[in-house]
Amino acid sequence: MPQKLIIDTDPGVDDMVAILAALRAEDIDLIALTTVGGNVGIETTTANALRILARGGSPELPVHPGLAGAHTAAHVHGDDGLSGCPWPPSNHPAQPEHAVDYLARTLPNTDITLACLGPLTNIAAVLEIHPNLTNNLVLMGGGFGSYRFQAQNGIIESTGNVTPEAEFNIYSDIPAAQAVFASKLNITVIPLDISQRTLLTPQRLQQMPIDIAPILDRYTGFSRQKWGHHSGPLHDPNVIARIAEPDLYNGLRGTVTVTESGQTQLAPDPNGPHHVMLQVDAGGYLDWVTEQLQPLAGTATPTP
Ligand code: RIB
Ligand code: CA
Repeated sequence: MPQKLIIDTDPGVDDMVAILAALRAEDIDLIALTTVGGNVGIETTTANALRILARGGSPELPVHPGLAGAHTAAHVHGDDGLSGCPWPPSNHPAQPEHAVDYLARTLPNTDITLACLGPLTNIAAVLEIHPNLTNNLVLMGGGFGSYRFQAQNGIIESTGNVTPEAEFNIYSDIPAAQAVFASKLNITVIPLDISQRTLLTPQRLQQMPIDIAPILDRYTGFSRQKWGHHSGPLHDPNVIARIAEPDLYNGLRGTVTVTESGQTQLAPDPNGPHHVMLQVDAGGYLDWVTEQLQPLAGTATPTP
């Protein structure tokens, strides 16, 4: 039985790949997107979510706009949030129901899984309404320092990518992250320890659909320029792959807390409420992502 999934997202180039992969993954039934301000402002992340669904052949899937964010990463994803994506605006509108109201109405007492690809602002707001939610939640965020990589321009640490100790999704709304990890949600974490190992190489880029490869090339260009490395991390699709192909990942259970500076800390505990992924079959992951996107290779970009 495919897993019912809602993706909370701030598209975002890597979010775009995650959403397109979720539309195709056979073990996933994507029922809606909720948007949050993050990589770019909430209006743009919402418009991008609609554009991505149109490109993925599911323009009718509901998109519920959510809360604004405090920071952006336009220097990584471009001012449009999709690194100069040529796709036209969708002719499907966003839903009138706010993301927080939609999630508060839809999640309780269900086995719907939540995939969180951006700041946790919406989720913390839902917990204000329903503090005892116990849904499965898989999020991209945080960093636990298990990975160091000597790039040409410096050492890449898996503790943070906004500051040395804070990752963007956590840093962008630290109180929200603290509330989510203090809740009863059953959380699986995909931190930088994973996503910095899953690098889009130039060879991998060539396997991507012809209109998506240039977007990814511009997105990874930020990492190439900053670190002098030939590739860039494909963060968010790891969340979808962990749901569809859990055997690609391995990690530790425990309790995650978030410091006032946005650092995520893990107290190992085999019976803990949080499952932090620390090992990944990076080749298997990139093969999986490439496979999910292949059906798009032959399809044209959406007509307005
Ligand atoms: O730190 C990486 C995360 O921040 C990814 O989700 C990326 O899309 C940005 O939101
Ligand atoms: Ca994201």
